[in-house]
Amino acid sequence: MAPFTKLCVALSILSLLACCTNAQLVNNFYATTCPSLETTVRNTMTSAIKNESRIGASILRLFFHDCFVNGCDGSILLDDTATFTGEKNAAPNRNSARGFEVIDAIKTSVEASCNATVSCADILALAARDGVFLLGGPSWIVPLGRRDARTASQTAANNQIPSPFSDLSTLTSMFSAKGLTANDLTVLSGAHTIGQGECRLFRTRIYNETNIDPNFATLRKTTCPLSGGDTNLAPLDTLTPTTFDNNYYKDLVAKKGLFHSDQVLFNNGSQDSLVTSYSTNSATFLNDFAAAMIKLSRISPLTGTNGEIRKNCRLVN
Ligand code: HEM
Ligand SMILES: *[C@@H]1O[C@H](CO)[C@@H](O)[C@H](O)[C@H]1NC(C)=O
Ligand SMILES: *[C@@H]1O[C@H](CO)[C@@H](O)[C@H](O)[C@H]1NC(C)=O
Ligand SMILES: *[C@@H]1O[C@H](CO)[C@@H](O)[C@H](O)[C@H]1NC(C)=O
Ligand SMILES: *[C@@H]1O[C@H](CO)[C@@H](O)[C@H](O)[C@H]1NC(C)=O
Repeated sequence: MAPFTKLCVALSILSLLACCTNAQLVNNFYATTCPSLETTVRNTMTSAIKNESRIGASILRLFFHDCFVNGCDGSILLDDTATFTGEKNAAPNRNSARGFEVIDAIKTSVEASCNATVSCADILALAARDGVFLLGGPSWIVPLGRRDARTASQTAANNQIPSPFSDLSTLTSMFSAKGLTANDLTVLSGAHTIGQGECRLFRTRIYNETNIDPNFATLRKTTCPLSGGDTNLAPLDTLTPTTFDNNYYKDLVAKKGLFHSDQVLFNNGSQDSLVTSYSTNSATFLNDFAAAMIKLSRISPLTGTNGEIRKNCRLVN
């Protein structure tokens, strides 16, 4: 080989290495390696939601909790073992995060057609998108190429996932720590247009807060007593709990937010005008939500040769 050609080869190998330890997510990542991926995810999500509509909400929340802890790296999917502490028993997840069996079912189908190719982190990102779409929400193209973490952090899950008792300033700074703005906070909170929450997490709000519709408080108290019934469920969106629409914002304007962390978005603060605007403009909400989900999905992914493609979403290889 001529010296110049050698140099070119060496340089392109170098740039290839540089590219792929720190690669970007791309829309067509599995186009040749697993062309059936998106259909497989969609089919499993369709039957899971047909069985139980709430599962779409549960998987959307799993994705949020994955991305807020060391990025969207599938870390939330890892089980605790005798020698490994994962995130499933962190306070925001314990007895609350659900949908893991559906991710397992998707992974099994994907492995059957594309062995050792697709990360659990990408499967979760696609499943979350499909859950939203199948419940009547928007769709978006999910950038792909995430790899799976070989570690997890229960401490980070405890400290970096927002609590339903948080004020607006805390929520804003926790989102800011992930590169998300206050407007991103408000639009992503619109995910609470689907799914359910437990009495223990909204009891103080319905018994002690003043910026709440009194009839709504009375209604919620019927299934959330002052003591006992901690795990009794109530819909996060009182109007249409299994449809992905802008009614969450109508709830907030009517002082019917279920959690303290919901109502702070409409409580004479900086987010009031955006909440009002989403409450009357469904198309703007759905568009902005899709864009913000793509932004969420890009939080510190592992790419290239970092991390691994897990064989089983619950265990590191
Ligand atoms: C802004 C800060 C947020 C707080 C404080 C928060 C808090 C909560 C809490 C406490 C629950 C109920 C858990 C339970 O009762 O077991 C919940 C449910 C849910 N959250 Fe959030 N959340 C936030 C943002 C988000 C975001 C950004 C998303 C997704 C983009 C999301 C999606 C969901 C969904 C879909 C559910 C229903 C899950 C189900 O029914 O299984 N949340 N959230
Ligand atoms: C169907 O939903 C129920 C909860 O409503 C769940 O316990 C069960 O595992 C689901 N079955 C399948 C096949 O997904
Ligand atoms: C899947 O790939 C792994 C290695 O990548 C190999 O050991 C295993 O036999 C393969 N399984 C099937 C069913 O092809
Ligand atoms: C309401 O507030 C009072 C006074 O701070 C407190 O003692 C009580 O436990 C609160 N009740 C609920 C249901 O949070
Ligand atoms: C917000 O402002 C309105 C109108 O000025 C007032 O009636 C309401 O009490 C205020 N709410 C809070 C929580 O300060």
